[in-house]
Amino acid sequence: MFVSIILLWLCIWFIILQLKSWRPKNFPPGPPPLPILGNILHLSLENPLKDFERLRKTYGNVYSLFLGQRPAVVLCGTKAMKEALVNKATDFAGRPQDMFVNDATQRRGVILADYGSSWREHRRFALMTLRNFGLGKNSMEDRIYGELQYIINTLEKSIGKTMSPQNMFHNAASNIICQVLFGRRYEYDDKFIKVIVQCFTGECQASQWLYDSFPMIRNLPLPFTKAFKNIETCQNLAIRLVNEHKKTKVPGEPRDFVDCYLDELDKRVDDGSSFSEKQLIMYALDLHFAGTDTTSNTLLTGFLYLTAYPHIQECCQQEIDKVLEGKHRASFDDRHNMPYMQAVIHEVQRVANTVPLSVFHLTTKDTELMGYSIPKGTLIIPNLTSVLNEEGQWKFPHEFNPENFLNDQGEFVKPEAFMPFSAGTRVCLGEGLARMELFLIMVTLLRKFKFIWPEDAGEPDFTPVYGVTLTPKPYSMKVQLREMQ
Ligand code: HEM
Repeated sequence: MFVSIILLWLCIWFIILQLKSWRPKNFPPGPPPLPILGNILHLSLENPLKDFERLRKTYGNVYSLFLGQRPAVVLCGTKAMKEALVNKATDFAGRPQDMFVNDATQRRGVILADYGSSWREHRRFALMTLRNFGLGKNSMEDRIYGELQYIINTLEKSIGKTMSPQNMFHNAASNIICQVLFGRRYEYDDKFIKVIVQCFTGECQASQWLYDSFPMIRNLPLPFTKAFKNIETCQNLAIRLVNEHKKTKVPGEPRDFVDCYLDELDKRVDDGSSFSEKQLIMYALDLHFAGTDTTSNTLLTGFLYLTAYPHIQECCQQEIDKVLEGKHRASFDDRHNMPYMQAVIHEVQRVANTVPLSVFHLTTKDTELMGYSIPKGTLIIPNLTSVLNEEGQWKFPHEFNPENFLNDQGEFVKPEAFMPFSAGTRVCLGEGLARMELFLIMVTLLRKFKFIWPEDAGEPDFTPVYGVTLTPKPYSMKVQLREMQ
């Protein structure tokens, strides 16, 4: 009996010691972790955003959590986010390499590449190639206009009727980036587009958190295996496209991103660079994924709010009609004369909160943040949600209101808390393209059509569906041709 009590006491003492020693000295505070499970029970794995907010209220803007046994630091609010991602950019610029997404993408591509020469070379290459393909010049606008004709055709077929815009925006965003990458577009029911879009959808979200927290379950047949299969299918489709390019390309006369990369590969033979054909496959899929779901979900959110707030839609249309009077089409430069439209698009991005937890970062060295010590190799979760609706940063943090981006003179202003593309060294490299797409698509469609919330559809539901990107719940809208253009 006495021995049992001693053993029990030793066990309890051992567990308490274990829990205490989990957080290194001066590590950000957080809820007590359980052995093996860590803090996973503190999070709803289907949608942890409310839990992150609850924990922020208890522990402050920089707190820690254990995903299984792995420590993670959650960054909340503009001040902590800027301090980490901008002022201490290099310290926080890494990416974890042992998570679900890394295994799924075979550690290739740019989004998930760790901070180092391969990431730097590939990021520079993407920025340069996007610029050469016309960001800032007319050619990218032409590509967007080319795709807009398909959107307009789809909407014209729906005049006077109710239509669901999900597939239309998804396919349009996918086609715009496909034209940059592969020099071609796809029909709206093509297999490539359908499969690629499914790869990271919300259906296996919960099991991804489990995969990341408990390495021992990684070989079990859980829903994440489906995502691995999808990525393999996408890879095979991309391999086919790259092979076609190799057969038809003329050296020095690139038609698209893949040709540029193949030219670069020829130049870099045996120079020890990180460029390779295998990299190219995942890199192209990376950019395709990053450029599709994000832009289309933002557009979907935009049209959801504009149908639900008809007076805001009308104000946009008045400004568009005035600025574009006598013009055949809008150009991206017109945004400088459209403060209200600019405010609406930014407000749409703020409420859309498209990438709510950004992409996870990793500390590249031992560092300090807001008085806390964070060791090298710590997982960093940038909670962008907490910035985009932070009280004190916005005039109307919890409502859809373009006034958040307008000053007393009606001029467009961008508060520093506007960071849907994140900030610092790893800021979204497609920001320029995304902003051009959002502006041209929204302005062109609002100029031509009126979008109406159907009378029989009940109240609009603005609660998004959680995933790597937030998606509005499926909805329908009525489309009418506008008289005045
Ligand atoms: C509204 C549209 C978009 C939003 C809201 C968005 C948002 C983001 C966010 C939050 C990140 C994570 C940044 C970080 O880790 O700190 C990111 C990274 C990235 N985005 Fe976007 N994005 C959008 C469109 C695009 C487009 C159109 C492309 C394609 C050209 C793209 C390509 C990328 C890439 C390659 C990265 C990784 C950058 C790196 O790790 O260095 N994004 N994006």
